[in-house]
Amino acid sequence: MEIKISRTDNSRVHELKRDEIVFGQEYADHMLVCDYKDGQWGAPEIVPFGNISICPSLSALHYGQSIFEGVKAYRQPNGGSAIFRPEKNWERFNKSAQRLGMPEISSEIFLDGMRELINIDDAWIPNEADTSLYIRPFMFATDEFLGVRSSFTYKFMIINSPAGPYYNKPVSIYVQSSFVRAVQGGIGFTKAAGNYGASMYPTAEVRKMGYDQILWTDAFEHKYVQEIGTMNVFFIIDGKAVTPDLNAGTILAGVTRDSVIALLKENGVPVEERPISIDELVEAHKAGKLEEAFGTGTAASMSFIQDLTYNEEKLTLKPTTEYTIANKIKTQLDDIRYGRIEDKQNWLLKVKQSVLI
Ligand SMILES: Cc1ncc(COP(=O)(O)O)c(C=O)c1O
Repeated sequence: MEIKISRTDNSRVHELKRDEIVFGQEYADHMLVCDYKDGQWGAPEIVPFGNISICPSLSALHYGQSIFEGVKAYRQPNGGSAIFRPEKNWERFNKSAQRLGMPEISSEIFLDGMRELINIDDAWIPNEADTSLYIRPFMFATDEFLGVRSSFTYKFMIINSPAGPYYNKPVSIYVQSSFVRAVQGGIGFTKAAGNYGASMYPTAEVRKMGYDQILWTDAFEHKYVQEIGTMNVFFIIDGKAVTPDLNAGTILAGVTRDSVIALLKENGVPVEERPISIDELVEAHKAGKLEEAFGTGTAASMSFIQDLTYNEEKLTLKPTTEYTIANKIKTQLDDIRYGRIEDKQNWLLKVKQSVLI
C-alpha cells in the first residue's frame, strides 16, 4: 500500500522536556489521516501534526459515531523500537466500528500505517525508564448533516503522544452500585467515545469522596463486578486468578488482560474467567482468601488495588508490596514490553531493529 508522506520541516522534538512529560499533552511531529467516502477508504497520508477544520454540523459531534484505540511503542535496549500487540487493537477497533455502524478498516491502513508513522516519529519515543510513546488511532463520522442516521463519510487518524513514567501508587476503589457503565446488548465491549463520556460524572463524584477509581457492576442487580475506569480487573482468591469473563459483552476485551492471563498461566497460576459477585469478594476477604487485586491496562500495565469500598464495607488488602503473583507478572510484562527478556509470545511488532540499521 502506498502511503503519501509529507514530512515537517520544523520538528518540535527538541522542545520535549523529557524529564517532565505530562500524559496526553504533547504530540509527535506527524499524524496519519485517511478518509472514507463513496463506500471505500482512500489512500492514507502521513502529514505534519496540526489542527483540522470541521463543520459545526459534523455528525460525530451530535450523534457520537466516534471510536478510538490506545496502543504503545517502547524503546528497546538496542536503541530500536517496538509496538506492543497492535494487531489486537486493530481487531478490537473493527469490532467497535461494526457495533457503531461505522466502516471497518484494513490492516494495511491501521497496522502498516501505524508502523510507518512510528518509524517516522522515532525520535519521539522516549528513552527514560518507564516511558513510552502512546499511540492513539481514532475514527469519527464526518457527514455534515443534522439527521439521525449513520454517516456516509468518516475520518481515520493516528496521533502519537510521549508518555512519562507511570506513577504506580496502589489504588483505592469504590464499587459502584447506582450508576451503570454498560448493559448487555449495549456498547460496553467497544472503545466508543460515548462510554467514556458517560463515566465522567460518576468518576468525578467518587474522586470527591477520596477514591481513585470506580469498579463498575452489572446493570441489572449491581451484583457482579465488571471493570475499573480504564482497566480490567483481576483478583487472586485462594491462589487462583479470577477475572470477569467477556461473555456479556459489557466490558472491554483488554489487550493487557489477555497478556496477563497468558503470563499467569505460563507461571502456573490457575485462571478463571467467570462472573464474580461482590458477595464472593466480601466472603473471600472475611475468610482471608482475597489475597491480591489489580487492574490491567495499556497505561499502567498493572495497577495494584489497596482497598475496595462497597456500600458501608471497606475491604482492605495486605500491603501491595506483598502481592507476590501480581508483582511477578507485572515485572514479566514490563520486561517483555521493553525488550529486557525474550519475547517468546511474539507480542512485539518491531519497528526499528536497532539504531545501527
Ligand atoms: C474501559 C477500559 N477497560 C479496559 C481497558 C484496558 O484495555 P487495554 O489493556 O487494551 O489497554 C481500557 C483501556 O484501554 C479501557 O478504557
